Amino acid sequence: MRILVTGKEGQVDTSLQTLGEKLGLEIIRIGLPEIDLSKPETLEAPIREIRPDAIISSAAYTAVDKAETEAELAQAINGDAPGMLARLAAELDIPILHLSTDYVFAGDKDGTYDETDIPAPVSIYGKTKLSGEDQIRAATDNHVILRTAWVYSPYGNNFVKTMLRLGETRDELNVVADQHGCPTYAPEIARALLTVAQQVVIDRDPTLRGTFHLTGRGETTWAEFAEAIFTGAAARGRTPVRVNPITTSDYPTPAKRPANSRLNGDKLDDTYGLRLDPWRKSLDECLDQLITKTR
Ligand SMILES: NC(=O)c1ccc[n+]([C@@H]2O[C@H](COP(=O)([O-])OP(=O)(O)OC[C@H]3O[C@@H](n4cnc5c(N)ncnc54)[C@H](OP(=O)(O)O)[C@@H]3O)[C@@H](O)[C@H]2O)c1
Repeated sequence: MRILVTGKEGQVDTSLQTLGEKLGLEIIRIGLPEIDLSKPETLEAPIREIRPDAIISSAAYTAVDKAETEAELAQAINGDAPGMLARLAAELDIPILHLSTDYVFAGDKDGTYDETDIPAPVSIYGKTKLSGEDQIRAATDNHVILRTAWVYSPYGNNFVKTMLRLGETRDELNVVADQHGCPTYAPEIARALLTVAQQVVIDRDPTLRGTFHLTGRGETTWAEFAEAIFTGAAARGRTPVRVNPITTSDYPTPAKRPANSRLNGDKLDDTYGLRLDPWRKSLDECLDQLITKTR
């Protein structure tokens, strides 16, 4: 099975490459500098040439704060490029899997967000990602949109790597304690994406298609997540770091973040029997890789 993935050095696309090799799947990653998603018209020729069995749309403009001042660029990459990919998938009669985000929600709900909740993004990034979802739905029914959150891994840039880097020179850090969500390990996202992809390529059942939520199991806050990172790092020989909980208003950022990012993953479990590992278990795996690597 040949699966085309957008993105070449990102967290999820790198995890897809690693797992795909283990599973004997042909993963073809496309991205900069050859393919530029800000110019969606550059997608057509390579996709027709590769003739994949499925497309995984993973690449995105993920600089959430910078997007507030680069709205057009973020819209082209997060909104229009997925739309173009979906139209090409429809022409080739193949499924498209697309990663979206908890940031499509306002974050003011009590409890977890279901797939039936109405999106109301509060940032440019969230708005452009919602546009990508909408353009895909308009282009083809043969889609699986997976909303994830708080992604981390040994690759690319993420909260775990930032905490470990800061912890090398600081003995205490202030971290926001009033945003709730669930950290999601990119290799776990890859496992879910490849399970779904292999099924939708061979099975046209409409109930396998649509929008699903995909996050690590459990929930936490950024401050509690940071504490778990530093506890795990200390257990692996690093100097302990104290986490001081602060509020979102103590740490102003250009883009507003949802206070509640918790997504309910029951639909994915019911449909595909897929449940991601508890976030603390995945964090342990990530720390094993990162700290062994840097020691
Ligand atoms: N990270 C999170 O916390 C998070 C949370 C919720 C949802 N998501 C979604 O999950 C997906 C994967 O996220 P991730 O964390 O793996 O992202 P990431 O590590 O930031 O990687 C993004 C990828 O997109 C590529 N890209 C950016 N602009 C491009 C362009 N103009 N043309 C071609 N490629 C371009 C990047 O290439 P370069 O490295 O060359 O720039 C990189 O390979 C995204 O769709 C994101 O919206 C992420």
